[in-house]
Amino acid sequence: MITPSTIEQIKNRLDIIDVVGEFVKLKKRGTNYLGNCPFHNEKTPSFTVSPTKELYKCFGCGKSGNTITFVMEHEKISYVDALRWLAARYNIEIEETQVSEQQKQQFQIADSLFVINSFATKFFDNQLFNTEDGQAIGMSYLKERGFREEILKKFQIGYNPQSRDTLAKALISNQFNKELLPRTGLVTVRNETELVDNYRGRIIFPIHNISGKVIGFGARVIGKAINAPKYINTPENELYVKSRILYGSYFARTAIDKQDECLLVEGYTDVVSLHQAGIENVVASGGTSLTIDQLKLVKKYTNNLTIIYDGDSAGVKAALRGLDMALEEGLNVRLVLIPDNEDPDSYVNRVGATAFQQFIKDNKKDFIIFQLEVMLKDAGNDINQKNILVNHVAETISKINKAEDFIKQQAYIKQCAAILKIDEGGLINLVNKLKRDKVVKDEKKTTAAEISYQNEADQYPPEQQEEQTLFISPDEKHERNILRVLLEYGLNPYDETQSIADHIFSEIKPFPFESPEMIKVLEMYRSQYEQGLRPSTKSFLYTEDQTIRDLVINITLFPYELSSNWDKMYEGKTITKVDTMDNDILMSVNYYKLKKLKKMFDQNQADMEVASFDNQLLLLRIHIELKEVEREITKKLGTVILK
Ligand code: CTP
Ligand code: MN
Repeated sequence: MITPSTIEQIKNRLDIIDVVGEFVKLKKRGTNYLGNCPFHNEKTPSFTVSPTKELYKCFGCGKSGNTITFVMEHEKISYVDALRWLAARYNIEIEETQVSEQQKQQFQIADSLFVINSFATKFFDNQLFNTEDGQAIGMSYLKERGFREEILKKFQIGYNPQSRDTLAKALISNQFNKELLPRTGLVTVRNETELVDNYRGRIIFPIHNISGKVIGFGARVIGKAINAPKYINTPENELYVKSRILYGSYFARTAIDKQDECLLVEGYTDVVSLHQAGIENVVASGGTSLTIDQLKLVKKYTNNLTIIYDGDSAGVKAALRGLDMALEEGLNVRLVLIPDNEDPDSYVNRVGATAFQQFIKDNKKDFIIFQLEVMLKDAGNDINQKNILVNHVAETISKINKAEDFIKQQAYIKQCAAILKIDEGGLINLVNKLKRDKVVKDEKKTTAAEISYQNEADQYPPEQQEEQTLFISPDEKHERNILRVLLEYGLNPYDETQSIADHIFSEIKPFPFESPEMIKVLEMYRSQYEQGLRPSTKSFLYTEDQTIRDLVINITLFPYELSSNWDKMYEGKTITKVDTMDNDILMSVNYYKLKKLKKMFDQNQADMEVASFDNQLLLLRIHIELKEVEREITKKLGTVILK
């Protein structure tokens, strides 16, 4: 922990013009400075820095903040790292509060491993470029594969000679800690005391962390791997945590940022070859399924992830496995398969950068659709398989759960229902059910296989289940349903003289809302409407009141559960699917009224029991009137009620 007094010192020394000026060309304009915004692309400058207020604001994209947040955003680092960055810049010595002995030790080990790795990187590099062995074996192999020297230099690619302990000897003579050396994976202990090289006769790919320090290595055999593994990788240690690494991220980060897209390939050689071809927004996963940490790393730079895999590789399946997480992170995932047993490396070498990029552009396929098509092909005519598939797709779509992705989700449902040739409403129900299940079970993951319904009809969840998972009373449900209909159709004309909103307002006038939140939304809608502001879901999503936002998001996200329980409402009558706007409005409004009427009946009944004889007569008259209203409503509803 950095001490408060150090933080104070850093803050006192900050000069926002100086710090921002390091990244943005600033021109003085009055009391402020102006430049091109580093956070979005622009030609005319709208990025303003105020030295007196120590703030920046971009009038183009809206980004704003202070010096520390600028460093955080621009360098994509944490608050603490931004403080360190600034401290280093202003030569301020950082005082830290006590860390535990164990933490301290770990930091020390990590530091030492960095030093050893850095030494080894230079050693391998020197071996490749400046030794006979390196040139004859390593370099000639790399040249034959089409790698040019400048790209090898950029990625610090090297060579470990074949002899038993060239590196080990160099490490020892440079007095590195012998105990620590095996942890790097560079050397192993033989016969208890002897250190020998681990990557003999291999090409070495150093693996850099996001700030360019070497945290490990991948060591490839030269030529075909026959009796040995193709790659030997650094074992997990204080620096090398496989699940957090994307090979090439350090070299790709600015290009990913600029192009707002990250290409993901499988292999080290794919990354290097694409860079050599001038395609720099590319990282490699190492052929395993993507982890949440890796996805978060991508997400720091872009929302667009394009996976480019060799069509036959086992890696495709592995990659697909991790991708539901990507959806949850809000990433747009697309997939391109390279045909004919080629990988990005061989393909770009064969066709060149332009054709490669064109191919990617033309063949990019949305991940959800891709997955669906692959599975559909596998399922063939097997009904059971197809059912599992429907559930799987619903599951995947339900993972898109950020409120702002609602439109995206709807589009997927439409597309997938069409591909599967199933009813869209059914798929929506299923997706909504899965979403609620997820809320209810909180993270307990259900796999597609577990939820396998016996037949198509069963796909649509039984009504009881719906009821259970709703946290709202039936009363509120009908108020919500009115809001839904308003939000959905309110601005459309009802007849020549009034809009649907007008109609609904007048219909529910004798039956006011009771839930305070619903009243709030209704009144907000009414007031916007009366001012001619054309209220819609969107106009509620940015209100300050969180409960209102959540409520409207919920109504928008789960529209179907609101209307799916109508039959419970009125004694034993089942309803056909509501398929037109008119029916939807008719039923929503009238069931709402029935619900309120029922309450009035009950109240009336209760009053009757304690009322005087005169009053009882009055109440009886009310009862008869209510019955009359009820009859009218049910008559109206009769047109859409089956027996
Ligand atoms: N990999 C690994 N260990 C292996 C094989 C593969 O760690 N025994 C990882 C490496 O990160 C490798 C990636 O999986 O880069 C993809 O494997 P592959 O396509 O076989 O390797 P490439 O690096 O593409 O090698 P090349 O193009 O030289 O065949
Ligand atoms: Mn490969």
